[in-house]
Amino acid sequence: MSTRTKIDDLRSELNDHNYRYYVLDDPVISDAEYDRLLRELQSLEDTHPELITDDSPTQRVGALPLEGFGNIEHRIPMQSLANAMDSDELLAFHDRLIRRLGKEQAIEYIAEPKLDGLAVELVYENGQFVNGSTRGDGTTGEDITQNLKTIRAIPLALRVETQSAPALLEVRGEVFIRKDDFKKLNKQQEENDKPVFANPRNAAAGSLRQLDSGITATRPLSIFCYQAGVVEGTTFETHSEFLAALQNWGCPVNPEIKILNGIEEAITFHSNLESHRNSLPYEIDGSVIKVNNYALREKLGVRSRSPRWAIAGKFKAQQETTVIEDIVLSVGRTGAVTPVAKLQPVKVGGVVVSNVTLHNQDEIDRKDIRVGDTVLIQRAGDVIPQVVKVIKEKRPSDTSHFKMTNTCPECNHDVYRPEDEVVARCQNLSCPAQVKRRIEHFVSKNAMDIDGVGEKLIDQLVEKNLVKSVDDLYRLTLDQLSELERMAEKSAKNTISAINNSKSTTFHRFVHALGIRNVGEHVAKVLEKSFTGNIEIFMKTNAEVLEDIDEVGPIVAETIVKFWADETNVNIVNNCFKLGISLESVKNETEQIFMGKTFVFTGSLESITRKEGKEIVEARGGRAAGSASAKTDYIVAGENAGSKLKKAEKLGIPVLTESEFMDLIK
Ligand code: IVH
Repeated sequence: MSTRTKIDDLRSELNDHNYRYYVLDDPVISDAEYDRLLRELQSLEDTHPELITDDSPTQRVGALPLEGFGNIEHRIPMQSLANAMDSDELLAFHDRLIRRLGKEQAIEYIAEPKLDGLAVELVYENGQFVNGSTRGDGTTGEDITQNLKTIRAIPLALRVETQSAPALLEVRGEVFIRKDDFKKLNKQQEENDKPVFANPRNAAAGSLRQLDSGITATRPLSIFCYQAGVVEGTTFETHSEFLAALQNWGCPVNPEIKILNGIEEAITFHSNLESHRNSLPYEIDGSVIKVNNYALREKLGVRSRSPRWAIAGKFKAQQETTVIEDIVLSVGRTGAVTPVAKLQPVKVGGVVVSNVTLHNQDEIDRKDIRVGDTVLIQRAGDVIPQVVKVIKEKRPSDTSHFKMTNTCPECNHDVYRPEDEVVARCQNLSCPAQVKRRIEHFVSKNAMDIDGVGEKLIDQLVEKNLVKSVDDLYRLTLDQLSELERMAEKSAKNTISAINNSKSTTFHRFVHALGIRNVGEHVAKVLEKSFTGNIEIFMKTNAEVLEDIDEVGPIVAETIVKFWADETNVNIVNNCFKLGISLESVKNETEQIFMGKTFVFTGSLESITRKEGKEIVEARGGRAAGSASAKTDYIVAGENAGSKLKKAEKLGIPVLTESEFMDLIK
């Protein structure tokens, strides 16, 4: 098979999997398998850059950061929607339509969940995604094409299996973050000492407005498409027909959408949706009721800001008031001390809330939150409860300002808050609270995945001094466990076998489990790839090597180097290996011919960019540095190579021409 055919096949295979996953909601391969196919395509394209196309699945990331966003004018303004606050207002909407249309008639509606995200417009010319923008002021939006390309649910080329692509398709939709993805994202932010997002909407907005699309690519953005802009080359009679076409073209459409006969059915849809809103995997703040027939829409027309043929049915806010009974301090894995308000339990949107994080002292000061206060609580995006505000009128006369103590509530050790940071930390590494959190993290699902070692057991293990660091888990005996409270022999046996089973694991799970600050699951995977799963090399690495890895910045590099500079950490890890932990070797499709070799590219190259050169070297186990030094093995010199070449010659480093380099990788 020719390389071109192989590349074409891989692309269409990857596109089919995307379609199955995002549109049909029926994936047939795992994420890991998808990534493997993508890497295979990437490596073929690395060696045949001339075969790369704009719509290749490899082209979603990699654009250079922008200085600022350009503008895109919407050919048809992106309007907003009028609101209906209750069913009476939905009925009034229907009555207005009947009056305009002049006679009593059954109207077919189409109802959709109103997603709480960001409206965007995608433009396809002859089936190719050419640009995308935000809503902006409705007339002009920002050009966020590069960022939208990173969203895997957005097809880079329309599918034409069942319906050919129109000459022009403008489609609008909502970019959002699912609740589970949001939780993971915030956990990752926390692990990396970055600010957490208040709700999925803010997280989606912040992610879409990044000038560096490389950052957007790491954010779990989703999309549902729900409206047409200009369409040329085909026509539709109804919105439902349009949505069906969108699905055929590979654009995700919300599966909850329903065609309804008359306003009564639409009202029922609205109230059903409100009662099960919390069970949906994403945030919604209402329903959108639209006239299905395009000819009727035409007759009804638009107002200046919103169409007459649609309305947003709003849900009641998920807010409640309650009283703060106490504020306690909780200590996390990295020693971060967080104030938590203990509430008089209150039901918010169907879930009982009795704790709410107050984040830090600054937040408490800003909102002036005190014990005894009556506060307005909201489930931010239905996910995490938060204090919206204090109801000052209800404040008892004897309250006082809350100030966090300077000692750890668990071990009495000093708590230190650097001047430029908001987080205060307990400085005692053997603080039992920190040890417990570290073990909890180590055994968690995405880390070592040790079933049966839960919070209660960890509390006992740490309090009885049986476990002081993670390696101690692998020293536990059946006798020790059986003696613990609530530990029958059978469950002790199961626990021991779960611990033993965890011994054979992967580099990324183990490295993530270690809880190195700033190294979450994603960075652990990046490191696994870069160190081809070799933990010994990773343990001896330095900041320079780390900073050369895409997605690893100076802060992450520094924490990793610091982590390995601490002998205790090295000992714990070595003990783990002595006690039987083994890391599966990482399969690598590309031969590692540049293992341990350092390249420097200089001058202007013809067939590849320097960035591509770097990727070619890294895919083969080598590394590409920015400047020549005694550690450089090869210089690849293009046209007009300047000072770097001179320096290389002085140092006696072998110089390769571009074509000699390309010959090496053939
Ligand atoms: S249709 C002419 N459908 O709500 C209005 N909008 O208030 C076209 N939204 O800017 C919008 N889900 O961001 C429509 N299923 C849905 C929607 C939806 C969310 C947002 C959208 C729009 C705002 C209008």
